[in-house]
Amino acid sequence: MIRVLFVCLGNICRSPLAEAIFDDKVKKLGFEQYFKSDSAGTSDYHIGELPDERTIRCAQANNISINHRGRQVNRVDFREFDYILAMDHQNLQNLNLMKSKYGFEEKEIHLIRDFVEGSQGLPVPDPYYGGEEGFHEIYQILDEAIDHFLNTIQERHRIYA
Ligand code: 4NP
Repeated sequence: MIRVLFVCLGNICRSPLAEAIFDDKVKKLGFEQYFKSDSAGTSDYHIGELPDERTIRCAQANNISINHRGRQVNRVDFREFDYILAMDHQNLQNLNLMKSKYGFEEKEIHLIRDFVEGSQGLPVPDPYYGGEEGFHEIYQILDEAIDHFLNTIQERHRIYA
């Protein structure tokens, strides 16, 4: 079982949407037995909350189900997850500080867009303070990034249909 954690700041916009897109793709590929996913935030701002209404509408518009409650990244996550994927540089920096503090130096933490040729180092922009169109934009970005991430780990772990 390959365990993947998606991380943003609030865990109500980008990372729960990433988790929902990932689960949808895994299901369509028939790979449910190989992958487990979750999402979390670096902040404690929205613990216990449902995703942002705009996130829910975006998921619905794209026919994917979303079912998550906000939670904060914690020490146990570094032990439980094989891949930790950050949405932006601030998330990445916080995760790297945590991994040193908790003694998980070897843990793989990446910016999610680093799996897309030509988009390495780019963030998934924070849509929270913007309008509805920002959610359409992050959906496209995440959809592409997750396709590339899935291709990479499928090859690395030799998972074939
Ligand atoms: P997310 O978006 O990190 O993609 O979930 C945000 C959600 C909430 C806040 C910031 C970003 N906030 O400041 O409350």
